[in-house]
Amino acid sequence: MTAKKALTWSYKNLWPMPATTVMVSCVGKDRPPNIITFGACGIACARPPLISLAFGVNRYSYELVKETKDFVVNIPSNEQALITDWCGRVSGREVDKFKEGNLTPGESLKVKSPYIVECPVNYECTLWNVVNCGSHDLVLGEVQQVHVDESILNEKGDAIDTSKFNPLVSLQMEYWDFGKKLGEWGGLWKSKS
Ligand SMILES: Cc1cc2nc3c(=O)[nH]c(=O)nc-3n(C[C@H](O)[C@H](O)[C@H](O)COP(=O)(O)O)c2cc1C
Repeated sequence: MTAKKALTWSYKNLWPMPATTVMVSCVGKDRPPNIITFGACGIACARPPLISLAFGVNRYSYELVKETKDFVVNIPSNEQALITDWCGRVSGREVDKFKEGNLTPGESLKVKSPYIVECPVNYECTLWNVVNCGSHDLVLGEVQQVHVDESILNEKGDAIDTSKFNPLVSLQMEYWDFGKKLGEWGGLWKSKS
């Protein structure tokens, strides 16, 4: 057995927790669309389908989300680490990230916020609820529509073929891509018993 070292909490040592890296697109009532990067994003509930994000309370993007009450969660591929990083380093207060980042705003079907066409997976969300936690608000979005690039769909066209999709992952404040598939949920257990 490996010995464990007890560490006090620090910003850095919160982040060994692996997480989905996403870019969230949003729009204001009278302000152009914008993009913000998140190093973590979660599935909070299945019925209703809820996605969770931690928005810094003073983020410009958050102002826009509160105005229109919707946003789109875009999952970048492993090849989009650079643009994802850039969208998390500059502010929509000064920069038009769609224009300067050469990203295309796609017209959403159910929400006002546009999706990012270049990202292979997009979830249109309406603002469901907010919990103030301190420096960040836990923001829950209800998924209203999902878009998936046809090039990463399975043969039936009803779900992602995971062998064709390599999402951008965050681990210890670093960008990573996926490793190899180990098995199906529940399937590993079944095959052992
Ligand atoms: C990898 C990465 C992860 C980030 N995660 C978060 C996050 O979880 N919550 C948050 O509010 N900001 C996060 N940020 C910071 C925002 O993306 C950054 O402040 C951005 O410039 C805000 O854009 P805006 O001013 O246009 O809203 C992250 C940035 C990076 C690069």
